[in-house]
Amino acid sequence: MTQNNKTGKVSSRDSVLHLLETRKGNFISGEEIANELGISRTAVWKAVKRLRDEGCRIDAVTNKGYRLSHDSDILSAEEIRIWIRKLLSGTKTGDAAPASSPSLSEHAELSIRSLQLDVFDSIDSTNSYCLKKAQEGAADGLIAVAGRQTRGRGRRGRSFFSPEDTGLYLSILIRPFGILGERAVKFTTIAAVAVSEAIEAVSGKPAQIKWVNDIFVDGHKVCGILTEASFNLEDNTLDYAVVGIGINVYEPEGGFPENIRDIAGAVWTDDPNDPASNTVLRSGGRNRLAAEVITRFYCYLLQELGGYTHTPLLHGRKYIDEYRARCFVTGHRVDVIKAGSNPVRALVTGVDDECRLLVTYDDGTSEVLNSGEISIRT
Ligand code: BTN
Repeated sequence: MTQNNKTGKVSSRDSVLHLLETRKGNFISGEEIANELGISRTAVWKAVKRLRDEGCRIDAVTNKGYRLSHDSDILSAEEIRIWIRKLLSGTKTGDAAPASSPSLSEHAELSIRSLQLDVFDSIDSTNSYCLKKAQEGAADGLIAVAGRQTRGRGRRGRSFFSPEDTGLYLSILIRPFGILGERAVKFTTIAAVAVSEAIEAVSGKPAQIKWVNDIFVDGHKVCGILTEASFNLEDNTLDYAVVGIGINVYEPEGGFPENIRDIAGAVWTDDPNDPASNTVLRSGGRNRLAAEVITRFYCYLLQELGGYTHTPLLHGRKYIDEYRARCFVTGHRVDVIKAGSNPVRALVTGVDDECRLLVTYDDGTSEVLNSGEISIRT
């Protein structure tokens, strides 16, 4: 783990990184950094060395000082927190709730601000980490964020390609009280909406949802979501759920592996005509993207569970309406693929309030699909 976040203390490494981030691309002298942060020049030098050892691209030039390279995008708990604070106060987006409307209560806002963020350069799987922590009794609000996964897990036992430095892999542990098991699908839906909005906010590109949990940009899957849960068998309530989100932020070096090359894409591509070119980096990179996902996820979650109608980011938008608006399979003919049976053709007629897919088969019968997998007929 790269940050000391449990004590709440900000390390010199994090403070120096933040200062360099705020002036990305510009030189700032060691003396200035030391004065601004109230630390010694040796501490600055050590922090810079540590960041460089971690792979952070920092230029050091005599008589000029240090400069964080334009294209560096290092994950940091402190940076994510800074973005969360900005989002909640509406300072960055200018998206604050109108003064007259009942806002996210102080209590709820405090809980978002005090989430536990465990940030890793590399981990086996952020979902496995949160599940293990949950079994050990970790509280609601634990979030694991990683820049690489060595055993990223996808749905249906598949692996999830999670290469170094180009993706954002994060898992959120939630322990909602007294929620029936079947409502757990809503967390996936909420995450899908939060991710879509976050991608749009950071890249300016429209993001759509393929029921139930894949996010598409420019016709390619850029994000997958895996929700794993533990239930109390006696009353079928949820004990805890881990919502895992994997986003391909940049194109991996050498491209995507053969088996997913046709379907997978990245939010940001190398194409100079790509409207997201540079915007992802300039607008805060993966730290901001993580903060946008986390904050929007919690705002919608609190709206769903706690009845908060207005939050700084949502303006009373309801996640289910947003989900419907983004769900691009509605109105399309699809193949409904169920385990152990052949694909069956159907028309998607909508998504109900429980996030189930409404389909009408060619023989005129209809079905409400709880989960499963569909592929669009071409
Ligand atoms: C899918 O599309 O099959 C779902 C992929 C979910 C991947 C995310 S990445 C973060 C979290 N940790 C994991 O091991 N999986 C999820």
